[in-house]
Amino acid sequence: MGIPQPAFYIFKCQQSAPPGMPKPSCVSQTNPESQQLMQHLSQSLMMKGIIATVSPIQTSCLNRCQQGPVILVEPGHTMYVELTKEKIDRIIDEHIIGGNVVSEYVINDMDWGEPIPPDSMIR
Ligand code: FES
Repeated sequence: MGIPQPAFYIFKCQQSAPPGMPKPSCVSQTNPESQQLMQHLSQSLMMKGIIATVSPIQTSCLNRCQQGPVILVEPGHTMYVELTKEKIDRIIDEHIIGGNVVSEYVINDMDWGEPIPPDSMIR
């Protein structure tokens, strides 16, 4: 038997736009809580004893900057937006542990359409 896979990967956008940049970013100098969310996510997973089977990953921009801070949960392609520490705790309890997507925090359909199959993009 091999080394077990993680049950989930949680990709946390850690992009921080430089001062003066017109575009918003998931980690903001003007939103102190946004700077603490990655650490909060990792600590919460550790405190619940599930860090071995849920892998938090820091990423750069996930292209949904207007709705930040965002995370992407895999498997499932579930994009959660406008995150706070409280929302992350609920996502861990209800989605990761409980198996139920927290639909009220999920990005809207207009901003998260169906994926484009790679074979349909080949020219
Ligand atoms: S800065 Fe986070 S999605 Fe773009």
